[in-house]
Amino acid sequence: MRNAAACAVAVALLLGGCTGGDDGTAGATTPRPGAAGAGDPYFPTYGNGGYDVRGYDLDLRYDPAAGRLTGTATITAVATQGLSRFNLDLAHLTVTRVTVDGTTARARQEGRELVVTPGTGIADGDRFIVVVAYGGTPAPIDNEFLGKGGWTRTGDGAFAVGEPESASTWFPVNDHPSDKATLRLAMTVPEGLQAIGNGIPGERTTAGGWTTWRWTESSPMASYLATVVIGKYRIRSGTLHGKPMVTAVPETLPQDGPAARSIARTGEIADFLTGRFGRYPFDAYGGVVIDDDRIDYALETQTRPVYGDTFFGRGPNSTVVAHELAHQWFGDSVSVERWRDIWLNEGFATYAEWLWDEHEGTRTVQQSFDAAYERMDWSIPTDDPGVPHLFGQAVYQRGAMALHALRRTIGDRAFFGLLRSWPARHRDGNVTTAQFVTAAERAAGGRDLSGLFDAWLSGDGPPPRP
Ligand code: ARG
Ligand code: ZN
Repeated sequence: MRNAAACAVAVALLLGGCTGGDDGTAGATTPRPGAAGAGDPYFPTYGNGGYDVRGYDLDLRYDPAAGRLTGTATITAVATQGLSRFNLDLAHLTVTRVTVDGTTARARQEGRELVVTPGTGIADGDRFIVVVAYGGTPAPIDNEFLGKGGWTRTGDGAFAVGEPESASTWFPVNDHPSDKATLRLAMTVPEGLQAIGNGIPGERTTAGGWTTWRWTESSPMASYLATVVIGKYRIRSGTLHGKPMVTAVPETLPQDGPAARSIARTGEIADFLTGRFGRYPFDAYGGVVIDDDRIDYALETQTRPVYGDTFFGRGPNSTVVAHELAHQWFGDSVSVERWRDIWLNEGFATYAEWLWDEHEGTRTVQQSFDAAYERMDWSIPTDDPGVPHLFGQAVYQRGAMALHALRRTIGDRAFFGLLRSWPARHRDGNVTTAQFVTAAERAAGGRDLSGLFDAWLSGDGPPPRP
């Protein structure tokens, strides 16, 4: 989904996806091809232009023995320009048939782009339904700076996780966070394996030795937050505040070990964060631990973060749980419009770690700040780190330091008010750094904070300690 405000920003940045529609002239445009990228300067090929996906409905089957994935994706979208053709992102998999509104469309695959040409053009503003039948042997995609992301085969199953890219390795997608959409997943796997996805669990059915697991994420979701984890897992299901809570730990790990004990605190930590950030933004909770060396990070997959077991190698770790749960507000519900603003995710999630650690009595926020200040390499700007430093300390620690400097400058009352009003106002939306600066200035009673943000987000030396 895209909102008008986001599109105005996008047009200003020459992002291709939003042109037309609102200015009174575009409705009459003859159909033309949708752009092959969403126009993100960091990742020009990610996503596509000319339409806005509302929902993905995936009906898939995975055969772990063969490593094969097959099925159909039903994509409901709305054209944001007259479209003669449009692209979807799909890596490594082969499309066998595409229909648009029930009629077979021409489909061509060029690298990771699927180019769909419907028999007749699609008018600006029209809703259309694309059904893609596809299959093959999924594999991750590699980024030279950021490592691999996406579908990864394991001994008895697979998992799909990765940031900034993952979704296009398992379904045709507009693979950019600026186009958030709902996701329904039906994943059929051999009986005896589990398949864990995002959102609310649905009916589970078994026939002929295969079990279909169903999951529904009904809040708009950035594509990199879609996940499925297949294998032998111990699943715990419960509720928190009337919403489903589903956690899963692989059978290879002890049921009462550090990983299991850490994610068992999900409800308690979510409640703590709700007290700081306002109501929890989604309709389900949970988490999945992955016991695989290739996952040396955690990821805030919507409603159900995944945690590499490496986080629990030295004992229970609630800080990482606080980090990933904080992302449910900052990153998942309120998402970046373009990747350079990733500090709006990671700086906030790191600050949440600091708040949680203080609550736990481990160290104060000020101690966390001081430690980060001493270690910082100030040469990387937080608000434009570049692709190689997308997940670096300038984004995480310096981003969190910028928030602490803001807090010290505008006071606790205004600062914690902002931490609640920001996710409330931009729930299910997309944002930019400029919008956050404006929101902070409003929270501070109209005070000009440009100097403060310049120093903390982009200056090349240490600002004075706040
Ligand atoms: N967003 C994740 C987190 O919570 C980090 C993902 C790191 N990605 C990577 N390719 N290493 O910190
Ligand atoms: Zn993070």
